[in-house]
Amino acid sequence: MSDATTNPAVTYSNYLKVDELLGLQQPRSAGPEHDEMLFIVIHQVYELWFKELLHELDLVLRLLMGDEPHKAQHTLKRILTILKVMVAQLDILETMTPLEFLSFRERLEAASGFQSDQFRQIEFVLGAKSATAIARFPEGSRARTALQKRYAEPTLWDAFLRYLAREGYSVPAAHLARDTSQAVEPSDEIQQILIQVYRNDSRNAELCERLVDLDEGIQEWRYRHVKMVERTIGTKQGTGGSGGAPYLARTLSRPVFPDLWEIRSKL
Ligand code: HEM
Repeated sequence: MSDATTNPAVTYSNYLKVDELLGLQQPRSAGPEHDEMLFIVIHQVYELWFKELLHELDLVLRLLMGDEPHKAQHTLKRILTILKVMVAQLDILETMTPLEFLSFRERLEAASGFQSDQFRQIEFVLGAKSATAIARFPEGSRARTALQKRYAEPTLWDAFLRYLAREGYSVPAAHLARDTSQAVEPSDEIQQILIQVYRNDSRNAELCERLVDLDEGIQEWRYRHVKMVERTIGTKQGTGGSGGAPYLARTLSRPVFPDLWEIRSKL
């Protein structure tokens, strides 16, 4: 048998699985309502960006653990560029008016971005670990397995502190050997070390600045998402069962790397 029979030539369509991809947008409304297509496409695009962000965040962790800060910074720059695109994409969904959303909202039943396991995975990698978030996913599901794996793993902040310790900074042992399934908490001792980094070590201070960029990027997404929610559903409850915009507003005051923000007023 020829190779061409067993292995058909690679084409744009079979490499990217275009037929499968285009079959994945399945509106639930009768008609269907025109705007439901945009709603589905934009959420699917976000899930793909979440996948790519996790792929790149995993690389940053490996690079920091392998003492390759320059490459880690390069990858962080890519992550920030993706985040900017992700924030900008909310503009598209904001062209949907409250009434256009209401035309199909009830067909979403209890479905909500609140149930995005990849978003929770990103939170876990960035230090916001939560056992409750895992328990929301069915036993044995892909989502739960992925979250359970990430729950125990070191966060980006753990990888960074271990890197700083290898760079000669006296990071306390309690931080280096902490239970990485717990959420990252602010620390005065770490802030003192970061102040030294900013004052005397421009190379690592630069790396810290990229982490602040990442933090700001995530906060920017959260802010733009809550504003979009306010203009689309006001203060109505979310389909996911939360209080809606007031719940989301509370997530705005939680930075990813609190120590990096705290030191700014101490420098
Ligand atoms: C009309 C558009 C949208 C509305 C009205 C909306 C509304 C909401 C609401 C009310 C919540 C709170 C949880 C709940 O009770 O449901 C939520 C959470 C969330 N949404 Fe959206 N959303 C919209 C678009 C999007 C898009 C495009 C994404 C992209 C994936 C997204 C991702 C998320 C995520 C990740 C959460 C969880 C946030 C957290 O717990 O910190 N949403 N959304």
